[in-house]
Amino acid sequence: MKILILGANGFIGSNLSPYILKHHDWDITAMDLQTHKITDCLQHPRFHFKIGDITKETAWVEQQIQACDVVLPLVAIANPAMYVTDPLGVFELDFEANLDIVKLCSAYKKTHHLPLHFRSVRYEPRPAL
Ligand SMILES: NC(=O)c1ccc[n+]([C@@H]2O[C@H](COP(=O)([O-])OP(=O)(O)OC[C@H]3O[C@@H](n4cnc5c(N)ncnc54)[C@H](O)[C@@H]3O)[C@@H](O)[C@H]2O)c1
Repeated sequence: MKILILGANGFIGSNLSPYILKHHDWDITAMDLQTHKITDCLQHPRFHFKIGDITKETAWVEQQIQACDVVLPLVAIANPAMYVTDPLGVFELDFEANLDIVKLCSAYKKTHHLPLHFRSVRYEPRPAL
């Protein structure tokens, strides 16, 4: 199984990635702006990491969505202070950028494995007819 984790250096991604590498034989492809919480994963042969901004690395992101079985879109500004100081920026990243990911998952019919979650929204495509 190939998993794409966007926002892999965050709280969830940095805990989930080493767990997956230890307990499963799955491959992880991942992106984040930073790496300081996943340094132990970076040298692992089944962890393929690219540092970058998902809103700029759109071609790479699309390519990985095509190639992976499961997508975990964890990129977010999860900082309540910024909900007040930069509400538009938070909306653009947390909602709009993740909606683009969901649309690509839908376009490439990533429907047959785990559903895709972000924030409190659950995306579970309809089964193919
Ligand atoms: N942590 C929780 O308990 C929890 C609970 C429910 C839902 N969630 C949701 O799950 C998601 C992930 O949560 P988290 O706690 O891991 O968040 P987090 O803030 O720890 O991680 C977000 C990651 O996204 C990265 N990031 C930000 N902008 C980026 C960009 N443009 N390109 C690439 N990477 C970027 C950050 O560097 C960070 O590592 C969020 O949407 C959050 O609301 C979290």
